[in-house]
Amino acid sequence: DAEEELEHRSPIVTIMGHVDHGKTSLLDYIRSANVVAGEAGGITQHIGAYEVSLAGDKRITFLDTPGHEAFTAMRARGAKVTDIAVIVVAADDAVMPQTKEAISHAQAAGVPMIFAVNKIDKEGANPQKIYEQLSQMNILVEEWGGKYQSQELSAKKGINVDALLEKILLEAEILDLKANPDREASGSVIEASLDKGRGYVATVLVQNGTLKVGDLMVSGQYYGRIKAMFNERNQRVNIAPPSTPVQILGLNGAPQAGEKFKVYADEGEAKDVATKRAQISREQGLRARKHITLDEIGRRLA
Ligand code: GTP
Ligand code: NA
Ligand code: MG
Repeated sequence: DAEEELEHRSPIVTIMGHVDHGKTSLLDYIRSANVVAGEAGGITQHIGAYEVSLAGDKRITFLDTPGHEAFTAMRARGAKVTDIAVIVVAADDAVMPQTKEAISHAQAAGVPMIFAVNKIDKEGANPQKIYEQLSQMNILVEEWGGKYQSQELSAKKGINVDALLEKILLEAEILDLKANPDREASGSVIEASLDKGRGYVATVLVQNGTLKVGDLMVSGQYYGRIKAMFNERNQRVNIAPPSTPVQILGLNGAPQAGEKFKVYADEGEAKDVATKRAQISREQGLRARKHITLDEIGRRLA
């Protein structure tokens, strides 16, 4: 409603790029350089997303799902999870097929891009060559008079990674990201699976509202009351404000990556929504298994 109080939220960033261009190295460096003092020795449980705290109480949430499959799956389900895409290109290599794919994914999703020109510590690194290849795709970096921010860096040595984080924060400022922390939570599922002993475990990203232990959540055809929540350091948390990734226990199934979730105040309504979706999903399954005529295939392809 119009009376809603919107507050600033931190950016959600996905790192993409060609194989071996340094996505994981960059994430690892950022994570290790920004681990909060006193928690460095803690057990880090991989939950597919994490939040880094920077100076001045600024935060950035990184989605640790650089696989294009996950991105495509999320896009297919209409979940716009990412605010900013960082496209990593190795300066000693070139703009490669998966670089182009990453760029088209970001463009199709309408997500702003920042280019991280990596491996500048290597002999033969040639950032200008990368900018030229990008320009052939109509992508002009600022240095070439265009609109795209780029940063030359070395993920391995940690050179200029801070400058990249600053550029991410600048982009976020321009986007003016807002959410209402005072309403029921909604967001997207990053990944979910059945864990022996713990039951269904889902990593979710809160995009609006604040998620709380005890909340009744529906995601796709599944629902449940949240029994426990954990942050990326595997610490129990009771609340998760906007842009926070958390692992949750309590759903009665594993929704697909990219599925949306929503918290309901009314238990009957939540069950109703989930049950109806389960029914639709069963019917679709049955229909898919029936004989399909050539005519119908034609209609579907049209
Ligand atoms: P995939 O997940 O397989 O697509 O690869 P990736 O993009 O995550 O690349 P990854 O971080 O695994 O790095 C690939 C290789 O490049 C590793 O051997 C890294 O050590 C190396 N590497 C990454 N960044 C740098 C860098 O800045 N400088 C140098 N010299 N090597 C780097
Ligand atoms: Na690799
Ligand atoms: Mg990797």
